[in-house]
Amino acid sequence: MSVETQSDLHGLQEAARAVAITLSKMRDYARPGMSTQELDEYGYQLLQSFGASPAPKKDYNFPGYTCISVNEEICHGIPSAEKILQEGGLVNIDVSAERNGFYGDNGCSFILGEDLQQLSPLVEASREILHLAISRIKSGVRIADIGGFIEMEARKRGFRVIRNLCGHGIGRRLHESPKEIPCFRDRLNRGRFRKNSVIALETFISTGGKYACETSDGWTMIAEGGGFVAQHEHTLIVTDGEPIILTKENGI
Ligand code: CO
Ligand code: CO
Repeated sequence: MSVETQSDLHGLQEAARAVAITLSKMRDYARPGMSTQELDEYGYQLLQSFGASPAPKKDYNFPGYTCISVNEEICHGIPSAEKILQEGGLVNIDVSAERNGFYGDNGCSFILGEDLQQLSPLVEASREILHLAISRIKSGVRIADIGGFIEMEARKRGFRVIRNLCGHGIGRRLHESPKEIPCFRDRLNRGRFRKNSVIALETFISTGGKYACETSDGWTMIAEGGGFVAQHEHTLIVTDGEPIILTKENGI
């Protein structure tokens, strides 16, 4: 969507604040020995306290309130009582929700406790590249150039990017135009960022495979050929200068 009025801005800010604080509190609440379902239910209570509805369930009938993906899972992990968080696990929480007709989307990967799998360079690269990419976005910039930048920064650090998972437009729905903001230079993508448009920018930085594929549960994505993937995501408004990061409240 395009932000046209003060009430658009306010509505977006409130939705983004709900997902940002929920994500931040879920990250702090996660402990080894806890099931991903317990973590998800905690997140649901928080979203409800903000008057926000979980978008994966509302828009896609996803079997959970938030997406919690562990270790080799990239995204869309289904919260489960059987899935127990472990020390040193790579965890990705992605929180998206609707509040008063506006959507926010915010995700991050982190290592639970001690870095037993030595994945902190991957996680740090993803977080850092997201911020570097955000600082290059302004009205008129080509979407393909930002994708090319993300891929170049990943390569510099010895990583790859997932080519078939993307950031996206957001606002009145979870996924809006532009449908795809890829993490590589997609030469077929002729789009440019437009002033006042709302987007969710996402990194998908990989130690291995370059394509994500769905597992047998019909939701969870893993990398074809294996590997770990870290993702970070912010919802932002494009301007003539630095974008306004709506989900910055969680300090990612
Ligand atoms: Co998300
Ligand atoms: Co998203």
